[in-house]
Amino acid sequence: MNEGKNETNGRTAEETVVSRTTLFVQHAIVNLCRLVVAVTFIVSGFVKAIDPLGTQYKIEDYAAAVGIMQPAGSLATLGLSVALSAVEFSLGVLLLFAIHRRVVSRITAVFMAIMTIITLWLWIAEPVKDCGCFGDAIHISNAQTLMKNIVLLASAVIVAWRPLQMVRFISRSNQWIVINYTVLFIVGVSIYCLYMLPLFDFRPYHIGADIKKGMEMPPGEKGPEFETTFIMEKDGERREFSLDNYPDSTWTFIDSKTVQVSEGYVPPIHDFSVVMQPDGVDVTEDLLANKDYTFLLVSPQLEKADDSNFGDIDRIYEYATGNGMNFIGLTASSDEAISRWRDITGAEYDFGITDGTTLKTMIRSNPGLFLLKEGRVIGKWSHNDLPDPASQEFKALIKNGIDNGNFDTAKKVVKVVIWFVIPLFLLTLADRLWAWSSIVRNTRKKNKLYKLLKKKKMRKKIVAGNWKMNLNLQEGVALAKELNEALTAEKPNCDVIICTPFIHLASVAQAIDQNVLALGAENCADKEKGAYTGEVSAEMVKSTGAQYVIIGHSERRSYYAETPEILKEKVLLALKNGLKVIFCIGESLEEREANKQNEVVKAELEGSVFNLSEEDFRKIIIAYEPIWAIGTGKTATSDQAEEIHAYIRSIIAEKYGKAVAEDTSILYGGSCKASNAPELFAKPDIDGGLIGGAALKAADFRGIIDAWK
Ligand code: PGA
Repeated sequence: MNEGKNETNGRTAEETVVSRTTLFVQHAIVNLCRLVVAVTFIVSGFVKAIDPLGTQYKIEDYAAAVGIMQPAGSLATLGLSVALSAVEFSLGVLLLFAIHRRVVSRITAVFMAIMTIITLWLWIAEPVKDCGCFGDAIHISNAQTLMKNIVLLASAVIVAWRPLQMVRFISRSNQWIVINYTVLFIVGVSIYCLYMLPLFDFRPYHIGADIKKGMEMPPGEKGPEFETTFIMEKDGERREFSLDNYPDSTWTFIDSKTVQVSEGYVPPIHDFSVVMQPDGVDVTEDLLANKDYTFLLVSPQLEKADDSNFGDIDRIYEYATGNGMNFIGLTASSDEAISRWRDITGAEYDFGITDGTTLKTMIRSNPGLFLLKEGRVIGKWSHNDLPDPASQEFKALIKNGIDNGNFDTAKKVVKVVIWFVIPLFLLTLADRLWAWSSIVRNTRKKNKLYKLLKKKKMRKKIVAGNWKMNLNLQEGVALAKELNEALTAEKPNCDVIICTPFIHLASVAQAIDQNVLALGAENCADKEKGAYTGEVSAEMVKSTGAQYVIIGHSERRSYYAETPEILKEKVLLALKNGLKVIFCIGESLEEREANKQNEVVKAELEGSVFNLSEEDFRKIIIAYEPIWAIGTGKTATSDQAEEIHAYIRSIIAEKYGKAVAEDTSILYGGSCKASNAPELFAKPDIDGGLIGGAALKAADFRGIIDAWK
């Protein structure tokens, strides 16, 4: 190991720091790119969605440029317009929230790649002047669009390269709400704006705009400049001339070409004019100068205009004429279309001709109503939302002639915030709070679990053998030696004890290393010493070198009538002589069937060991052995055993406190074998086993010991 380079997972400390820094930088870059792309998509999707017709016109410009179709007003291009804005907006929101990170980032990158190819073509071939990326809100040149898209494409690729580094704002379980709400919202916005008018009007004819001002050339600005070249011929020789060196009449004119040499300033409104039909009088100036109100019924294509609201239109026409105001229809359509409209709707108003694109720019409704005063836009309405001349609102508008466009804009922004931003914000907030609280809950749970595991770890894990009345001395010593050797060679993960018949104790104690394999007796007398023929006292047990003694085994309770009082004495004597006690408790089959197991074990503990001081009780190991499982091959299920072990621990806690209960080892006994030990020992309140039959063969016993591995 090099100095200053601690190896962790095959990496040096320096490498770890470097890779952490790299990861941090990567994280920051990916999330920055994600924000840039998300915000751009949201803005451009939204400004397209609020003006579906404008977006449709742009799509049709593109379609015409590549010669695919001439589909003015077609449903397909309108559908495409709504879909495009919805996809763009939704991708932006999904990226912002980091929803379905992999698939969304890939789709975004592909989307940007396609857009970049289109803008490359725009830049090279200039089929349309303005890409329409941001509707009418922001106009950028084709070169700027290309630059913008290259940056966005690079950002989208970076995000798609490491999508999982996007920080989530919402948990997976709530993502569907954001997805559905976003799609519903944006499609809803498009439909609303189609039915009414664009929510926000970025065009030069917005409410409050002064058309006259919009047509002015600011002082010092120049318009676009054009240069014409003339191709002339004389005596078979062709040459090019400009206006400055135009030759004399000996030259014959062949051809001329005019090119724009400088962009210059084009006023926002440059082709607004009204020529009345059928007399051809240009009334543009009068109309813009008129100090009274002028209503303009604007219909770019009268043949396609919606005539369903003609009643409302007539009511306004009557109001206008009744109050000495002008009412003019404006269209780019033919006389024929005008007379057809008159036939259908009974229109009595005059029509003027205006450029079709100008009319489409003026209002996104066919027809739509415009209210002008001295060239200023006072009001705009879709044919679906025409004002009622009798309403207070309309009267106030006519009275004040006020441009409330700015006020309206603020109100609309608030509406969008209330309908979209706030619900998603609240959802995110609730989601994050929930996520945070569940992290706290989990941490607490983990802590609890950790503490439990630690407690269990702190408690002694024990596998004890109870040889009962089996094996003669030689066999017993041989088994003890075999076990001792095996456990010396491979250290067990628990304490191992063998409890043998009395006569084995001294010899076995000589044969084993009790640091590896501890020794205990299966019983001891309830008397200290004296004339008790055939009995073996606790002191005698201790003198053999044994450290443990089993007391209260069910076989002794039932075959030798050992009562709780007798057992109580035995326990006291064992402890007095420095022996640790493995105290057995457990219910019979009848008691279990009568569901009395808890009562039984409680009474057994109370009868023989709950009299002890805390200090003495700490020297007791409890062995729960359901009598119906001992030597029968029937084991309590691990859940059954765990249930009663937990109960035993709880009553110890009641008696001696939680700390003592947590430190007391509670073993399970009764047909415990290598095959079922792992499942039993995995339970939090089972700390090992007291093994009868399976303790008589070294291999079987070791199998159980290995369950702790
Ligand atoms: P068993 O005996 O493992 O043979 O069922 C257990 C015991 O009596 O301690």
